[in-house]
Amino acid sequence: MTKRITLRRPDDWHLHVRDGAVLEAILPFTAQNFERAIIMPNLTPPIVRHQDASSYKARIKSVATAVGQPNFDPLMTLYLTETSDPQNIREGFEGGIITAAKLYPAGATTNSDAGVQDIEKIYPVLETLQELGMPLLVHGEVVDSAIDIFDREAVFIERTLIKLVERFPDLPIVFEHITSAEGVDFVASASKKVAATITPHHLVINRNAMLVGGMRPHYYCLPVAKRESHRAALVNAAVSGSPKFFLGTDSAPHTIDTKESACGCAGIFNVPVALSVLAHIFEAAGALDKLEAFCSVNGAVFYGLKLNKGSLTLVKSDTPVRFNDRVRTTNGEIRVFDPMFDLYWSLEE
Ligand code: DOR
Ligand code: ZN
Repeated sequence: MTKRITLRRPDDWHLHVRDGAVLEAILPFTAQNFERAIIMPNLTPPIVRHQDASSYKARIKSVATAVGQPNFDPLMTLYLTETSDPQNIREGFEGGIITAAKLYPAGATTNSDAGVQDIEKIYPVLETLQELGMPLLVHGEVVDSAIDIFDREAVFIERTLIKLVERFPDLPIVFEHITSAEGVDFVASASKKVAATITPHHLVINRNAMLVGGMRPHYYCLPVAKRESHRAALVNAAVSGSPKFFLGTDSAPHTIDTKESACGCAGIFNVPVALSVLAHIFEAAGALDKLEAFCSVNGAVFYGLKLNKGSLTLVKSDTPVRFNDRVRTTNGEIRVFDPMFDLYWSLEE
């Protein structure tokens, strides 16, 4: 008997679509599966002013229209720097051009060099966000050579996030792509103003995927996957139905040559299989009934946006479904996330 599940159309609350040839090649996968997506601003140069966000949005919309998905709604973000202009942010938010602002600690990840070294320097910006009720999206890892990479999220909570939440109690904060039990616990016990995104890949892999039997660069992303107990904590949070946890794919394409290198780039491109993987994980946890909350409801409610009207149906086949393992672009090929188990769920034709 075919099993199927119909969901309110999902949204992706954390996505890298890049620009140019890569944008053209990968956007169709997002637009087919998601109504809206929070677009990360870490281009080179980064999207710092609302005018930049506006032209980036126009480029994304024009690709979406060209591939027959004119209704796809990119929700734009600004990249915070120590010289970000609160007035420009206010104009962008009040003008409906931008939805949120992204805090990258300088040096924490891909294209984060222009990010923030001293968080107190952006307090005036954070005051403005708080006043506007505009979400602050946080890449939560410390940049400190003395801190082991597997501890950088937990230490960020202790050193930065606790203080931030105390200092700005009314600021909506999304702790992005959490990867640790500490992250789950912090968000679960924080106020309603604090939520978290969780990626499909961090629900699937632990650090062994990256390091056992050979070094596997296609499982390298930031924050890095942690030990198994942390993955289990993330699954529990995602399937709990708690409104504080929602989907952000953090799908982050890099061409194969830049991943398979002596200094490979961080990022996992998962959008083509994201909903299949999630259905698999939620079903295995006996929580398919919570999939819609995670993919299609909790994020929109947190952002104060309307729920999508349309729906999408996933069907479970008796035999494994084959997905393409790579996407071609004129810049090179991009590997699609391989969860290392067979997938049975796919979009209904
Ligand atoms: O793995 C990652 N890739 N983590 C990030 O924070 C950035 C992203 C990217 O842009 O490639
Ligand atoms: Zn990201």
